[in-house]
Amino acid sequence: MKHSKILVIGACGQVGTELVDNLADRFGPERVIASDIRDQADFSVDYIKLDVLDRAAVKQVVIDNNISEVYHLAALLSATAEKNPEFGWKLNMDGLFSILDLAKEGLLKKIFWPSSIAVFGPTTPRFDTPQYTIIEPTTVYGISKFAGERWCQYYHDRYGVDVRSIRYPGLIGWKSLPGGGTTDYAVEIFHEALKNNSYNCFLSADTALPMMYMSDAIKATIDIMQAPSDTIKIRSSYNISAMSFNPAEIAHEIKKHISDFEIQYEPDFRQAIANNWPASINDQEARDHWNWKHEFDLRRMVVDMIENLKG
Ligand code: SER
Repeated sequence: MKHSKILVIGACGQVGTELVDNLADRFGPERVIASDIRDQADFSVDYIKLDVLDRAAVKQVVIDNNISEVYHLAALLSATAEKNPEFGWKLNMDGLFSILDLAKEGLLKKIFWPSSIAVFGPTTPRFDTPQYTIIEPTTVYGISKFAGERWCQYYHDRYGVDVRSIRYPGLIGWKSLPGGGTTDYAVEIFHEALKNNSYNCFLSADTALPMMYMSDAIKATIDIMQAPSDTIKIRSSYNISAMSFNPAEIAHEIKKHISDFEIQYEPDFRQAIANNWPASINDQEARDHWNWKHEFDLRRMVVDMIENLKG
């Protein structure tokens, strides 16, 4: 029998770029297909141009390629969605339904869909934010992720869909650039530090946010998908956490490696988004249920980022 395949939708994004390589290493390149809205992309696996809003096209790709698992990553992030709320809502919600419905029809066995710390809002406890707490998101992105979480739980409970999700914090990696998020400063800062010894930060010095190194985020993503189904007790989305820092703290850590590095602060509209998000996350459930464990703290992450970006 032909092996079933794994489809990554939104493969050209910050997470997708790294996830595709990891899945290919783990399961073999012939079992992984990358897809995105771009005409062409450079992957070590087959690439298919695909608009997740085109339900018929998605269904055809799934059937033609014997796809059994989808990692659905296509979305507008927090800052971009605020500039285009209508499209942010449409892409983030309809895209998810297009995949959930294929699983409901029995065409997919397993789905991964990321949620985010953006589901939390100003009324959420800011420190050590628990899994179950007040959730009143204020951004279109956060509203779409929270609604998506409820729909995932609903499709699981009502139709038996095997959907798995984690609430990503800000993600930091050297292989790819983020696009349109509020936590993007924590990636830009490295590129600017190495190029210009200087960075103009769009958040204030003391804006602490939950963050994670990309290798940990990829590990969490693949781990939750590989875990036995009965260990995944939360079918909305799991809190996961690794580190928490503010711009002044990461700048201080970078200065240890690039001594003349300077940071300036010029908060823009993203400051208001960050002000409503937690500073740190409690992820006890993920640790207890499917053995989630992070590896990288701020110090190790900064060493690894600088080493790799220097080349
Ligand atoms: N990193 C994302 C953003 O800033 C949060 O999920 O939008």
